[in-house]
Amino acid sequence: MSTSELPASHAELMDGVYRWQRHFYDLTRKYYLLGRDRLISGLDVPAGGTVLELGCGTGRNIVLAARRYPGARFFGLDISAEMLETASAAMVREGLSSRVALARGDATDFDAKALFGLESFDRIFVSYSLSMIPGWEKTVSAALAALSPDGSLHVVDFGQQEALPGWFRTLLRGWLRKFHVEPRESLRDVLESESARVGASLRFRTLYRGYAWLAVVGQRS
Ligand SMILES: C[S@@+](CC[C@H](N)C(=O)[O-])C[C@H]1O[C@@H](n2cnc3c(N)ncnc32)[C@H](O)[C@@H]1O
Repeated sequence: MSTSELPASHAELMDGVYRWQRHFYDLTRKYYLLGRDRLISGLDVPAGGTVLELGCGTGRNIVLAARRYPGARFFGLDISAEMLETASAAMVREGLSSRVALARGDATDFDAKALFGLESFDRIFVSYSLSMIPGWEKTVSAALAALSPDGSLHVVDFGQQEALPGWFRTLLRGWLRKFHVEPRESLRDVLESESARVGASLRFRTLYRGYAWLAVVGQRS
């Protein structure tokens, strides 16, 4: 998908949300986007492997993953030009520009070959982005279609706060709505049916009493 084909209203919305926030995003989000480091540890990237993050934002996860898996190459896709500007500066600052490629695109419908010159990836991850992507189910199928045969898809996002007090859930939901974030109640069901469709295993974990959900769609059986 070329930049001119991006869904303009959503791209503009995301640019609007992040135009100023991107400058203090990493500092503030570390207190409430929980489980991201656990996802990175679980990537277990093979030597010389390729890793794609959908909705890469400021590039915070790619920087940490690139440090942890020094032999791997990384790719980041985001719909927000504002976020990508911050991510690009981070890669230069961290000396990672030769191992990381970033591109603007829609995670529900992207052409990895056109954007990155690769048709498939060993690992794909989506961190706290499905809850912001309209039609997020299509991101799950697009990610599975772009996985190499032994690849895995890793997802972390808000859960349903199942075992947390009702007042906390109400406050959190109201606050997230201000940022256009909607925890996906059917995330587990969609991952289950998509895993079954492609013949892959699913590991699904609830973190912090349902504050977050962490899932891995593994190798095809
Ligand atoms: C809450 S941020 C998460 C950023 C990063 N993954 C992290 O864990 O810090 C959500 C990101 O998803 C991006 N995004 C939202 N809708 C998207 C879409 N349809 N395609 C690609 N990126 C999208 C936003 O621009 C934003 O950078």
